[in-house]
Amino acid sequence: MAILVTGGAGYIGSHTCIELLQKGHDIVVIDNFSNSKQEALRRVSRITGKTFPIYAVDLLQKRDIQKVFAAHPIDAVVHFAGLKAVGESALFPLRYFQNNVTGTVNLCHVMMEFNVKRLVFSSSATVYGATGQMPLREDAAVHAINPYGRTKLMIEEILADVYAANPDWSIVLLRYFNPIGAHESGEIGEDPNGVPNNLLPYMAQVAIGNRQQLSIYGGDYETKDGTGVRDYIHVVDLATGHLKALERTVHIPGVHTYNLGTGNGYSVLEMVAAFEGASGRSIPYIITNRRPGDAAVCYADPRKAKQELGWQAMRGVERMCMDTWRWQVKNPHGYERSRISAKHLSHPLSELSLQK
Ligand code: NAD
Ligand code: UD1
Repeated sequence: MAILVTGGAGYIGSHTCIELLQKGHDIVVIDNFSNSKQEALRRVSRITGKTFPIYAVDLLQKRDIQKVFAAHPIDAVVHFAGLKAVGESALFPLRYFQNNVTGTVNLCHVMMEFNVKRLVFSSSATVYGATGQMPLREDAAVHAINPYGRTKLMIEEILADVYAANPDWSIVLLRYFNPIGAHESGEIGEDPNGVPNNLLPYMAQVAIGNRQQLSIYGGDYETKDGTGVRDYIHVVDLATGHLKALERTVHIPGVHTYNLGTGNGYSVLEMVAAFEGASGRSIPYIITNRRPGDAAVCYADPRKAKQELGWQAMRGVERMCMDTWRWQVKNPHGYERSRISAKHLSHPLSELSLQK
């Protein structure tokens, strides 16, 4: 299949590009690089030994999206592009609605125009809100509690309406739980800007010595050890979930919703212990107040994806932590100043045909 990957330079997008290329699909990537580096795509090319067109395109520029569709036959779209920082979304809600919602509407307009009817969308477990009954099934009540979550919920609803009006469309909504880990090569991984909001990138920066200590947000939850419990999923497992979604569901018209999680919950303290084991470093921490908006416990019922897609997560938390650590050690400052980047720069960007 020829697949357009929006946001393909990002954390989950870049890992999915590798899996798509390794399965023999053709890909075209568009990204505005607002939260990613072109270096990630150079490394995707290096790992897979394949080149592919990359366009520096913003989804808010509809005419630029049209140019990409006009230049390449596209069978399906995997749509990762979006802003994702919860705290920032509360400060700049309009930026989030415009980027995520308007960007998706633009994309769908152009898909309609070019008769492309297959779409896989990155949704999030955040659409379940903070109070659902565990494990969360796809038919649990949805309730977003911040602007970021509302963009995801709105997009899910918009896509359901698109399908209702165009019953030959096939739309897959993938609700990710907590993606962590990195490609086993240690060459691509999560490269957050500034202070990481999420647990694993923060912990990895403490372990490598870039930050002093981890603050654990709350030690008085009604959980096994008082700390928050989440369903962490290896990013490569998540990436293969997209392949299964494309291969099995995308030919069946409808709106198909799947949780991508492991079904297992780990507490913050369990993750600290797992990361210490994987890295051989100790992770100093203090227990602070709860973070507003955090749920005590959140984990998936992943059975629907297993039954209908034939997909299940294969990698455990030890592997997730080992791979995160390998990425962190090889790239202590992310893509920009990593010690292996010089070697990789022997692949000039033009080889990947970055186009505008
Ligand atoms: P990311 O920020 O690493 O990747 C998103 C990519 O989209 C970036 O490369 C960014 O530059 C690009 N982008 C953003 N707005 C764009 C626009 N208007 N036009 C073109 N490109 C644009 O994030 P990620 O972790 O890889 O997440 C991918 C998707 O999955 C996002 O939609 C996110 O909301 C969703 N998601 C992520 C998580 C998570 O924990 N990482 C969890 C649930 C859902
Ligand atoms: C976050 C997002 C959520 C998104 C999800 C996907 C917030 C508020 N929510 O969820 O919208 O769908 O990522 O990955 O950002 N923790 C600490 N100290 C830290 C960081 C986190 O103790 O420095 C704790 C949290 O309280 C939580 C757990 O670690 O119990 C995981 O946190 P995080 O990685 O931020 O993910 P979520 O809060 O689950």
